[in-house]
Amino acid sequence: MMMQVSSAAPAKRIVFGISGGIAAYKAAELARLWVKKAITIDVVMTAAACRFITPLTMHALSGRPVWQDLWHAPDSSMNHIALSRGADAIVVAPASANFLARLAQGRADDLLSALCLARECPLLVAPAMNTQMWRNPATQRNVSLLRSDGVFFLGPDSGELACGETGEGRMLTPENIAAAVERIIWSPDHEKSATLKGRNVLITAGPTFEAIDPVRGLTNRSSGKMGFALAEAAALAGANVTLIAGPVHQPTPLNVMRVNVISASDMADAVFARAKGTDIFIGVAAVADYTPTHVADHKLKKNEINHLDLALTATVDILDELGRRTPHVFRVGFAAETQNIRQFGEEKRRRKQLPMLIVNQAQEAFGADDNEVAILDDHGFHALPRMAKTTLAKCLIQEIAQRFEQKD
Ligand SMILES: Cc1cc2nc3c(=O)[nH]c(=O)nc-3n(C[C@H](O)[C@H](O)[C@H](O)COP(=O)(O)O)c2cc1C
Repeated sequence: MMMQVSSAAPAKRIVFGISGGIAAYKAAELARLWVKKAITIDVVMTAAACRFITPLTMHALSGRPVWQDLWHAPDSSMNHIALSRGADAIVVAPASANFLARLAQGRADDLLSALCLARECPLLVAPAMNTQMWRNPATQRNVSLLRSDGVFFLGPDSGELACGETGEGRMLTPENIAAAVERIIWSPDHEKSATLKGRNVLITAGPTFEAIDPVRGLTNRSSGKMGFALAEAAALAGANVTLIAGPVHQPTPLNVMRVNVISASDMADAVFARAKGTDIFIGVAAVADYTPTHVADHKLKKNEINHLDLALTATVDILDELGRRTPHVFRVGFAAETQNIRQFGEEKRRRKQLPMLIVNQAQEAFGADDNEVAILDDHGFHALPRMAKTTLAKCLIQEIAQRFEQKD
């Protein structure tokens, strides 16, 4: 069947800001993707960006003038205001640490900053920087401030960085940025589902890894898909989302702050450190119940040991401990059971005094792209039909938002 494309569809236009960082070279690819989709881009580069990629390249790819100078407005219009008028969004990729600082302060001493300050349209930023620059409290303060000002964050991702280090701070791929902008700006139901606007939501996802020796450990088969889908759905519903992720290979959801951890103890620390400002906690991670009591300094050799007894110590129960430390947080639990899911789920919900627990069959849920769950709350057992985890996540976020609003 042929798709009918309406010729009356409004033209899409983005003001594409580029600030000074190594990832600026990826801006060329992003421009190409947008131009291929017939999206008009007006490129604005900071002085530092021009040291990493030439305005000539961006001019050639966008087919339009490239703007750099606050004081240079050839058609005598006020570029620092006019360029963003009528645009669907301003997207800054890469967004340097320095640029985020300027934005957080409301500075207007260069064209891109002035445009952002004078904008009427949404602003999306894709940070890219060294891990320590990203983690620095000054940058994190700026990020929090900007999030609360309504700026959308696309990433950053974790992985290998241009400086040779590995960690958080890598810019999302051009494909991911283009897809994110599409969904945030041109998704028709985006505003309607903003049921968690301004709420701080903390989510754990994935497995944990409990070291036995430097190369071996205890883990489980959780893929992280459900927790990542919930993080994305919560962000789309307007929440400020922090995702504490165990070791998984999932891309960071859009507009979500990701913190990578390894062990149950790391995960507990990461949760408790953020609990104070949290409104809703969703514990999706399959956290190890036990961890080796002693971790060997060197790899255990098979030929030295015929029989290995592993002493295990119980880990901290994150949901329980969070309830004790910060009773104001609305806690949502997940239970993956292999049998008697209704009975075991309800027992767990009561034991942990949770207003809401989501149960599923562990053997069906782990690693799959779809899932069938039931919600347990004070009113009973509510089964949901099987559906894709991404769709399910949106339903669950609406259910959580409703119960959160009614909690008092
Ligand atoms: C080789 C080199 C690479 C850099 N890479 C980054 C980077 O990836 N991210 C970042 O935030 N800053 C990076 N910087 C620092 C910024 O370029 C610098 O803070 C600059 O003032 C940013 O200006 P702007 O925000 O106006 O674009 C780098 C600097 C150099 C010399």
